[in-house]
Amino acid sequence: MKQASDTIPKVFQHLRVGATQPDAGDIAIAAAAIQAGGLVAFPTETVYGLGANAWDAGAVAGIFRAKGRPASDPLIAHIARRAQLDELARAVPEQAHELCRRFWPGPLTLVLEKSHKVPANLTAGLDTVAARMPDHAVAVALIEAAGVPIAAPSANRFSRPSPTTAQHVLDDLAGDFDMLLDAGPTAIGLESTILSLVDNPPRLLRPGGVPLEALRQIIPDLRFEPRFLREDDAAPAPGTLLKHYSPRARLLLFQGSDDTAVYAAMRAEIAGNRRVGLILSNADAAAFADLDVAVECLGRDVAQSALRLFAAMRALDSAGVDLILARAPEKHGLGLAVWDRLLRAAEGTLIEA
Ligand code: TXA
Ligand code: MG
Repeated sequence: MKQASDTIPKVFQHLRVGATQPDAGDIAIAAAAIQAGGLVAFPTETVYGLGANAWDAGAVAGIFRAKGRPASDPLIAHIARRAQLDELARAVPEQAHELCRRFWPGPLTLVLEKSHKVPANLTAGLDTVAARMPDHAVAVALIEAAGVPIAAPSANRFSRPSPTTAQHVLDDLAGDFDMLLDAGPTAIGLESTILSLVDNPPRLLRPGGVPLEALRQIIPDLRFEPRFLREDDAAPAPGTLLKHYSPRARLLLFQGSDDTAVYAAMRAEIAGNRRVGLILSNADAAAFADLDVAVECLGRDVAQSALRLFAAMRALDSAGVDLILARAPEKHGLGLAVWDRLLRAAEGTLIEA
């Protein structure tokens, strides 16, 4: 019998691969590590994932250990072909077919009733399984070559912002996994949208790369009730843990349509604090150019904000600020996902200005 140690490299391997045409030899090395029960970090179009063979409960347990992730938080299974969904899910409802045709490959995760084949620890003991087909040549090639669905959470340490670059993965998890497929920065920067089809009507569990408006074209009665739970609440539903996308620094989130009022409220907060950082659009940042504070500019539009948000949180943490001020974006399109991550980082509190 082949031993895991035969194919998991003894030394950590950092393989730089092309984002659109990865080298087949590199993919084969990573796929062998997956087959042997190893942990391989890989890029998707949203964020980097920390992958393991989804059928192998031992390998899946390794993901939880490496991340320091509570066993109560289930993982997403990543697939490369539509047929793999039939192995993961007990039944695939008609609505799922349409969603897959329209949004896969892409940043949409579907929650369905799970098949018997799925290990219990992958789903944190739930009867449901989350699955998605990533839109990234490296992820797809890895899943195809491994020949199994790949269980993967975002490749950050638990409660840190998700990694949008290979360096973020190394910053959080170096020494705790076997191989890194490094294809440069990810394209979207925020995680997938999670949609539960086991609820009736279907429910949006996490806003993400596919906008709510696009989903409502197919599911007009799709429900979305943002819920933000305090960490000390008993047994929160998976994925609703409040402190989930957080920088180490405290984050205050300001909301208001009157620029002058928002800027004044932020300035009042800056005045009373020593080490402050700002996460703002280019336009908003210009209003603070006279101040000696660390500023992370999110760019000109919501797509750029999505791409830069997590890196901005990490950068301000590295700069050693104690307090981060940010402004809530408009809640349409990708803006809803940006708003959700900022609100979680702010532990559910919005300051109206
Ligand atoms: O874009 C993404 O989705 C990235 C990339 C790597 O694919 N993955 C990602 O995984 O964000 P993770 O583990 O960081 O977030 C997955 C979320 C968790 O909050 C988990 O609670 C939820 O999916 N989830 C997984 N299975 C579920 C289930 N059966 N029911 C409800 N929520 C589930
Ligand atoms: Mg995550």
